[in-house]
Amino acid sequence: MSLDATISRPELPSGMRAEALTLTYVSPRSTTYAVREVTLQIGARDFAGIVGPSGSGKSSLLYLMSGLKTATSGEVWFDDFHYSAATATEKLNFRRRAFGFIFQQPFLVPYLSVLENVLVPIENPVKKDKKRALELLDSLGIADLAPKFPNECSGGERVRASMARGLVHRPKWLWVDEPTASLDHVTGRMVMDVLKSQKQHGALVVVTHDLEILEDADTVFRMRDGVLLESFAPRANARDEMGIQKTDSNGAASGLL
Ligand SMILES: Nc1ncnc2c1ncn2[C@@H]1O[C@H](COP(=O)(O)OP(=O)(O)OP(=O)(O)O)[C@@H](O)[C@H]1O
Ligand SMILES: [Mg+2]
Repeated sequence: MSLDATISRPELPSGMRAEALTLTYVSPRSTTYAVREVTLQIGARDFAGIVGPSGSGKSSLLYLMSGLKTATSGEVWFDDFHYSAATATEKLNFRRRAFGFIFQQPFLVPYLSVLENVLVPIENPVKKDKKRALELLDSLGIADLAPKFPNECSGGERVRASMARGLVHRPKWLWVDEPTASLDHVTGRMVMDVLKSQKQHGALVVVTHDLEILEDADTVFRMRDGVLLESFAPRANARDEMGIQKTDSNGAASGLL
């Protein structure tokens, strides 16, 4: 670990802390602030959502926190690990060990079967890994696709296969960009239930346009024009605003958001 990665961290509860994250794109004619001075915290077992209009910086923020993009400025810590100050190799090792990713584009390996694709994050898969992979595919409604190849699957089926791949190694941090965009409502609900199972072993961070899928989130961060406008807890807010303890979480949460 580099020296910078071990010193001068702020007080931190278990989880991730991002400080003043900024990402700019500079072209000869203009400078775009994709993300501007975003500071936030996500607990190690939290389900966090990121919402906002198209182009507001949601995906960019996800990529900065997870280190797939390098911030123009700002810092990221995971517990006492100063991630943004680590070397490229340290970051890569950390990501391999602790992160799972689910992108809108599934990026499956075309010459591997669906089952083999799901097992990609595991270096030397053994029987129990295969069993878990098959169970995940089953819970995502695509168990029968295990021996097939990606080009034999529909777009939504490929997305679901990529979800099983993101979950298979029980990552401490699961980063998800628009999980339900290519799915019908019922399938979207089903995959969210599977994604939420991630909370048994780590944090779940979901970028979405679909506010309904965040009704169970611990925290929702709202972005606009690259800026973090607010954060709130949908369930707590729903109870407070309705003035009652128990309510229809679906309707109440959507109304709030
Ligand atoms: N490679 C790039 N070069 C220049 N500008 C970019 C680049 N990538 C993103 N941007 C700009 O950064 C801003 C934030 O983009 P980002 O993809 O993070 O938005 P988003 O909230 O995820 O949008 P969507 O909901 O449409 O996916 C946008 O204004 C976008 O045009
Ligand atoms: Mg996006």
